[in-house]
Amino acid sequence: MLHLPLVLLAALFPGGVSQDDFQGPTSFHVIQISSFANSTWAKTQGSGWLEDLQIHGWNFDSGTAIFLKPWSKGNLTDEEVKELEEIFRVYLFGFIGEVQERVSEFQMEYPFEIQGIAGCELHSGGAIVSFLRGALGGMDFLSASNNSCVPAPEGGKRAQKFCTLILQYKGICDTVEKLLLETCPKYLLSVLEAGKADLQRQVKPEAWLSSGPSPGPDHLQLVCHVSGFYPKPVWVMWMRGEQEQLGTQRGDFLPNADGTWYLRATLNVAAGEASGLTCRVKHSSLGGQDIILQWGHSISIGLIILAIIVPCLIFLPCLAIWFWRRWSYQDIQ
Ligand SMILES: *[C@@H]1O[C@H](CO)[C@@H](O)[C@H](O)[C@H]1NC(C)=O
Ligand SMILES: *[C@@H]1O[C@H](CO)[C@@H](O)[C@H](O)[C@H]1NC(C)=O
Ligand SMILES: *[C@@H]1O[C@H](CO)[C@@H](O)[C@H](O)[C@H]1NC(C)=O
Repeated sequence: MLHLPLVLLAALFPGGVSQDDFQGPTSFHVIQISSFANSTWAKTQGSGWLEDLQIHGWNFDSGTAIFLKPWSKGNLTDEEVKELEEIFRVYLFGFIGEVQERVSEFQMEYPFEIQGIAGCELHSGGAIVSFLRGALGGMDFLSASNNSCVPAPEGGKRAQKFCTLILQYKGICDTVEKLLLETCPKYLLSVLEAGKADLQRQVKPEAWLSSGPSPGPDHLQLVCHVSGFYPKPVWVMWMRGEQEQLGTQRGDFLPNADGTWYLRATLNVAAGEASGLTCRVKHSSLGGQDIILQWGHSISIGLIILAIIVPCLIFLPCLAIWFWRRWSYQDIQ
């Protein structure tokens, strides 16, 4: 019996539940998005991420990194940071020029967008695997594997031609290899350590219920909002007693400004069947004490009363003061 919640959790989190699932991100990657509007106008955005948490930005004008967390540098020395910024500055600047120069050679047509992602991931057992992928116009273009350039099938002849070209630039390939296979793994371990308190924090969700837009005559949409939790894995389900309501639909995870998450789960029911339903929330921060909210009139009536009384309490005195002021003003006249 004691194991039941664990079994449930295991069924809920894809890939099974292990201690590791609650220990935050395990990979780092940088993203490059370059938009080429015409022969003279191009823009590049760069950023650094621990899974879905952004920890670096890139100031294109000054060619410097923006560290979004106090621990974003990991254990890199100022010297190493400068060196890396120099590499990215030269690369990003050179990249735009090279692409613009080769537009006709590669039979490209403005406008187009190039995206790149590169980084490394810590696997169970401690192995660190690096990756690099490029996309053109939202389609896979190439990837790097074992220090060679692999054209993507979607990239066609153009990608093959690009890979042949890039392999002639030994200096660039060596730098990329060093960044991927040496710098990234070292940095990943150190930044996970430096940000540990932040990345492995546990923040409890708050949950509340509301009704959504009516899905049809005599039907209700029950909405269960769960907000402010961290880390991201969470389980939200509409229940009747111990019975999971399989019609429960989960929305997308939305980020809150403070780095926590918001999620809603909705259920459409006939109006007469809403009472007795509960929304149940499981999260690692709750230590097994699930949040259970009951759908019932008490909440909505309470809210309505609150919604009427509070404005009255504020509005009536204001009205009284206004009248009194007006009165005394007229008296003076
Ligand atoms: C190039 O694109 C930019 C941004 O869309 C635009 O402001 C500019 O006028 C364009 N220049 C030419 C020569 O078309
Ligand atoms: C990677 O390259 C090395 C040296 O060229 C080779 O020995 C090794 O088998 C390659 N590994 C894979 C997975 O292709
Ligand atoms: C930074 O951390 C990595 C990984 O833990 C380690 O290999 C490296 O020696 C550290 N560098 C410094 C300067 O402490």
